[in-house]
Amino acid sequence: MQLVDADMQRVNQMILDMAAANAEMIPEIARHLIDSGGKRLRPMLTLAAALACGYRGDGHVKLAATVEFMHTATLLHDDVVDESELRRGKPSARMVWGNQASVLVGDYLLGQAFRTMVEVGSLDALAVLSRAAAVIAEGEVLQLVAAKHLSTSEEQYLQVINAKTAALFSAATEVGPIIAGSSAKVRAGLADYGTQLGLAFQLVDDALDYGGSSMTLGKKVGDDFREGKVTLPILIAAARGGDDDRAFWQRTIEQGDIEDADLDHAIELLGKHQAIAATVERARAYGDKAIAALEVLEEGPYRAALEDVVYFCVSRVS
Ligand code: IPE
Ligand code: IPE
Ligand code: MG
Ligand code: MG
Repeated sequence: MQLVDADMQRVNQMILDMAAANAEMIPEIARHLIDSGGKRLRPMLTLAAALACGYRGDGHVKLAATVEFMHTATLLHDDVVDESELRRGKPSARMVWGNQASVLVGDYLLGQAFRTMVEVGSLDALAVLSRAAAVIAEGEVLQLVAAKHLSTSEEQYLQVINAKTAALFSAATEVGPIIAGSSAKVRAGLADYGTQLGLAFQLVDDALDYGGSSMTLGKKVGDDFREGKVTLPILIAAARGGDDDRAFWQRTIEQGDIEDADLDHAIELLGKHQAIAATVERARAYGDKAIAALEVLEEGPYRAALEDVVYFCVSRVS
């Protein structure tokens, strides 16, 4: 964050400018979410990847703002789909303004993101980001179809998180070498870094949905459980458990028959079968792959920082 601080300030200003609109409700809702913070992880990756490739220019700031805007739009939509009440420590936009406004403002933000990425003038970057936008939506749909099905395979789960989360991380890191005019090898390496990091990030997120605290996360623990989302912690615990456990997962996840004490029992089962630890272990393995992918870069402060991002993501609690 320190390395890209000056550029990130420009990104933040640009994000505020992009939230402007004639319809007053748009900046109001966008600012509600933007002013609540967020880690700014994806734009930081775009800035660092471009600078690591020796980029000199302004395009990386625009692309970083674009990436964060795409992320913000997906959050507005995602909280409607997941019926989430809390985001970044505040009531989600849907709780304040309703689902309709949340969906429509998300669409506006996505449109603004596309306007900004076009301004950079790189068809390759445009191809990568527009593909990511489609893949994210596809991932959310795949997840919707898999929900409540304990028969979901690990492979299907990985396909979902690859699409809904890793695709944007990968696009965020790939556009850096693209605008820097780097070699195909560097471009592929940084795209792979983003993918592996994104998988690790979502695995940890899915672990935190049971093992974290709402206070530090800024979102409600147990959302995945209440939604019947079949994430890796559940798949591991269900596979390692006996018949009683199986009946519990079927009633809660598959039938959606959830009582107050069930989340605590679910967390207890995950602990008993070391499902959270095993999920984080998986995240670490993807983190190692992300670090290995950075070998296409010369050693230096940016490569070291990108390695640090991996350590942050696998050990994060917020
Ligand atoms: C939330 O992403 C959505 C997921 C992919 C899990 P972040 O945890 O990066 O959200 P903010 O931007 O920091 O709030
Ligand atoms: C993250 O979805 C991916 C997108 C927002 C597209 P989740 O539903 O897993 O993320 P949180 O837990 O709401 O942040
Ligand atoms: Mg969600
Ligand atoms: Mg979701």
